[in-house]
Amino acid sequence: MLTKKLIIAMMFFLMLVAGSVQAGGDVARGQELAVDCADCHGDDGLGDEDIPAIAGMDAADQIKQLMAFKSGERPDEEENMVDSVEDLSEQDMADLAAYFATLPCPEK
Ligand code: HEC
Repeated sequence: MLTKKLIIAMMFFLMLVAGSVQAGGDVARGQELAVDCADCHGDDGLGDEDIPAIAGMDAADQIKQLMAFKSGERPDEEENMVDSVEDLSEQDMADLAAYFATLPCPEK
């Protein structure tokens, strides 16, 4: 009996793990982290005339840009983004990107 329960529990766990890997990032966690981005990019991720919209942006592309800001590969002359990304882990970036990718962007 115990073994059967254990197997079911393990299958459930594996399904959860597979599910989150497939999704790439955790949207709910990304939404929490996104509070720090809203000052500039806005609650809706649409930015303004000086700030690019990130709503609806492809998640993989967002991660690439965030990594490029962090590594200094993408120049950020006003240093707006450097402060925001320096403490982000790759998981944080994936979660943020997953969240912003779900937001509607009227221009895309
Ligand atoms: C202090 C203002 C500010 C904050 C806070 C900020 N950003 Fe930005 N972000 C900018 C500016 C300005 C740019 C454009 C920089 C450039 O191209 O030099 C930018 C660019 C980006 C880009 C690249 C967009 C593109 O079209 O290539 C992404 C992705 C991004 N930000 C995500 C985020 C995330 C995620 C956060 C929160 C962790 C965040 N930003 C916080 C101002 C900010």
